[in-house]
Amino acid sequence: MTVLVTGGAGYIGSHTVIELLNDNQEVIVVDNFSNSKPEVLNRIQMITGKQLIFYEKNIEDRMAMDKIFKQHAIDIVIHFAGYKAVGESVTQPLKYYHNNLSGTIVLLEVMQENQVKNIIFSSSATVYGETNRVPFKETMTTGEASNPYGYTKLVLEKILQDLSQSDPDWSVTLLRYFNPLGAHESGLIGEDPQGIPNNLMPYLTQVAIGKRPKLLVFGKDYPTHDGTGVRDYIHVVELAQGHQKAIKHNLEHQGVAIFNLGTGHGYSVLDIIKTFEKANQVTIPYEIIDRRPGDIAIAYADPSKANEELDWEAFKDLYTMCQDSWHWQKKNPDGF
Ligand code: NAD
Ligand code: UD1
Repeated sequence: MTVLVTGGAGYIGSHTVIELLNDNQEVIVVDNFSNSKPEVLNRIQMITGKQLIFYEKNIEDRMAMDKIFKQHAIDIVIHFAGYKAVGESVTQPLKYYHNNLSGTIVLLEVMQENQVKNIIFSSSATVYGETNRVPFKETMTTGEASNPYGYTKLVLEKILQDLSQSDPDWSVTLLRYFNPLGAHESGLIGEDPQGIPNNLMPYLTQVAIGKRPKLLVFGKDYPTHDGTGVRDYIHVVELAQGHQKAIKHNLEHQGVAIFNLGTGHGYSVLDIIKTFEKANQVTIPYEIIDRRPGDIAIAYADPSKANEELDWEAFKDLYTMCQDSWHWQKKNPDGF
């Protein structure tokens, strides 16, 4: 089977490509390196010993995308490409709406023209918004986001649903990721944020390695067991494996299927700090400051639908996620 992976040089994409290559799938990656580095492709080859086909292209480049679809018999697309920094989406909304929406629309048009109608889309737990109660279930109402990035996910989910409604030949899988952590066990690939990290773990590992003086903990007055925000952290390798299972499901079904990819467990920011310290024998200096605007108190998944219908479950614990994140950071202090 031939899988086109947009954004396959990124954090989740690269881990997914490894799983696909190890499963002997033909993999074509399209990425413009807007948030990744070419070195990741060498690392993927080192880990798997297998070749992939790579195009350094913007998914908005209709002619280039059309050529790729004409050159290869693509069975299914996994669509990771997009911008994901929440704070930047607030200060530069047009950049986010343009890349995430226009890029996806061009991709879908080219797919339609070439009769490829199977797609797996990277959505986010952010679509559950601020009013739903945990655990989040796929049947809950969505429709509110706290930032433009979140709105791009909501709108893209809607576009994909409308497309499927208009043409029953489409098979659409919406994967709502919770919070990925960790890295491949080799320590050869991992999360490599450009500039100041937005997310908790890459910031924390940069503190651990001495690049930043301390971690800022956003708020200690949430209604949680220790007052800090609670999230559902999932190992990125298990998240990647969820895509393999999603491919099988997608090819066997038509219409739209939505799945939460999370563990179902919630951990606080202080839980993460303590577990990281214990797992890696390091001390993390931190300071508690005000809440970050737009953050919610608690988010974790009800992953039972994915467990049952995809035959997929995430088992790796926080201790392992912290070890693997640190292994990657120590081996690659400056990223790729
Ligand atoms: P990432 O930034 O590491 O990977 C995205 C990749 O897409 C990058 O390699 C980037 O260069 C590429 N890209 C962006 N725009 C492109 C374009 N127009 N043409 C070609 N390539 C382009 O992000 P990630 O963490 O791997 O996330 C992958 C997807 O999952 C994104 O859509 C993201 O919004 C979504 N997601 C991520 C998280 C998370 O915590 N990491 C959570 C929920 C959802
Ligand atoms: C964030 C985004 C979400 C996006 C996801 C992946 C927001 C509001 N949400 O999720 O839309 O899908 O990233 O990109 O930005 N924290 C600190 N200090 C830090 C960083 C984070 O205390 O330096 C806390 C946060 O308050 C939160 C937890 O750590 O409680 C996790 O934060 P983060 O890693 O940014 O993920 P989310 O906010 O869950």
